[in-house]
Amino acid sequence: MSLETKQREQWGSRVAFILAAAGSAVGLGNIWRFPYVVGTNGGAAFVIIYLFIIALIGYPMMVTEMAIGQKTKRNAIGAFRDLAPNTPWWVAGALGVLAGFVILSFYSVVAGWTLSYFFKTLAGDLGVGTDFVGTFIGHITSDWAPLFWHFVFMGLTLGIIGLGVVKGIEKTVKILMPALFVLLIALVGRALTLPGAGAGVEFLIKPDFSKITAQSILGAVGQAFFTLSLGMGCMITYGSYLDDKENINDNAAWVVGLDTAVALIAGFAIFPAVFALGFDPAAGGGLAFITLPAVFASMPGGTIFGAAFFLLLAVAALTSAISLLEVVVAYYIDEKGWSRQKASLIIGTLIFILGIPASLSMGRWSGFTILGYNFFDFLDFLQESILLPVGGLLTAIFAGYVWSAKKTREHSNINKSAIRLGTWFDVLIMYVSPIAVSVVMVTGLVDKLKDIVPNIRPIAYGSLSLIILFAVWAVNDARKKLATEKAKA
Ligand code: PHE
Repeated sequence: MSLETKQREQWGSRVAFILAAAGSAVGLGNIWRFPYVVGTNGGAAFVIIYLFIIALIGYPMMVTEMAIGQKTKRNAIGAFRDLAPNTPWWVAGALGVLAGFVILSFYSVVAGWTLSYFFKTLAGDLGVGTDFVGTFIGHITSDWAPLFWHFVFMGLTLGIIGLGVVKGIEKTVKILMPALFVLLIALVGRALTLPGAGAGVEFLIKPDFSKITAQSILGAVGQAFFTLSLGMGCMITYGSYLDDKENINDNAAWVVGLDTAVALIAGFAIFPAVFALGFDPAAGGGLAFITLPAVFASMPGGTIFGAAFFLLLAVAALTSAISLLEVVVAYYIDEKGWSRQKASLIIGTLIFILGIPASLSMGRWSGFTILGYNFFDFLDFLQESILLPVGGLLTAIFAGYVWSAKKTREHSNINKSAIRLGTWFDVLIMYVSPIAVSVVMVTGLVDKLKDIVPNIRPIAYGSLSLIILFAVWAVNDARKKLATEKAKA
């Protein structure tokens, strides 16, 4: 059964759409992931490259995905099918659905940590003198507590998506996202006034480009896609619930701007504290969970601030998690005719199960590795270095050459908006994004895997050539079919 017979849901207002899309973008990617990838990639130089990528690739891709969604009113796979029927382009959407599975499974594990940190802070377990590193490692390496919170978080996520309460979420996000913003600013204030904070500020603003490698540039591309929820059909899906009268260009700019602001603020909350309190900036995935509790412990009213912060972080994670689940669920509703409840329950459960080894790989199952990564890090590697870049690459090629950059641009320019897309947009989507992403992906992967995988170079260059061959063939195939259809009509 197709969706034509049912009424497709729509956002209540422009603000609702911006908040939902910003709610998807702003999440653990900004506050947990961004600071630690900046920390492991050397600081300011990485941030500068990241900002360039956001402007030159992130914004045009955001516009493109929203436009594809608004135009087709379809899920990630259906949207490609709609614009290029009977062609292999649905594969681009299928990669997105797969990425939704992969990302949410480990995302929910981290979101579970935030829930448990909320209760730990509230109970006063994270006061002055706590061994913050030890507490964090103790928590994530234990068996049951992280699994329990992962279970709770996935339950919340699938519950919300199952109810289809876009409206309920809209209301919640309207109050809680600004609150998160305010708390972050308060944290920056505290972090910057700690004695010795200057080194952290310097780390974020004084670039040392000698620290930049092919791997770190790939990391910046991966982080940009991840934090903006791009390259996996998420903004296609959210755009599909957007009224035809709403503009895309300005809304996309709001989402990209808010997301970038929150990431930078999180950086300025975390790094001054890292240096002031003597933590290691390259500590990895524990950075936020080690540094922030230490800052809270040193603040008057830290228990309340800290608890509020972790609760809001969990909420920010929730508004991202529901968008990840929605990508997969929307596909099963639109294309397979499943009910929303059935799709949420089944898919949510499968994702919960995939998250179990991710959680246990921090402790009991840490001996099991793939390409040198534990299972959790492997899933993150897979989405950052392969799924999102390939998804983004194919989406850019599709928009640029099949739907055509001109039509994408014209669609995005239909409604009144302060930002008008000019031919610069065509250049970015047709040349800059595909070329930059391909080059960065292959050189970054080779750099990353050269010591682990024998013959990685031929494998990597071979795979990229195949992807490009596929794209060229699929572009031609779609153009031919679209031309025949036009002739028939
Ligand atoms: N953007 C979210 C974050 O920064 C994560 C996410 C990725 C959500 C991809 C949806 C799609 O936390």
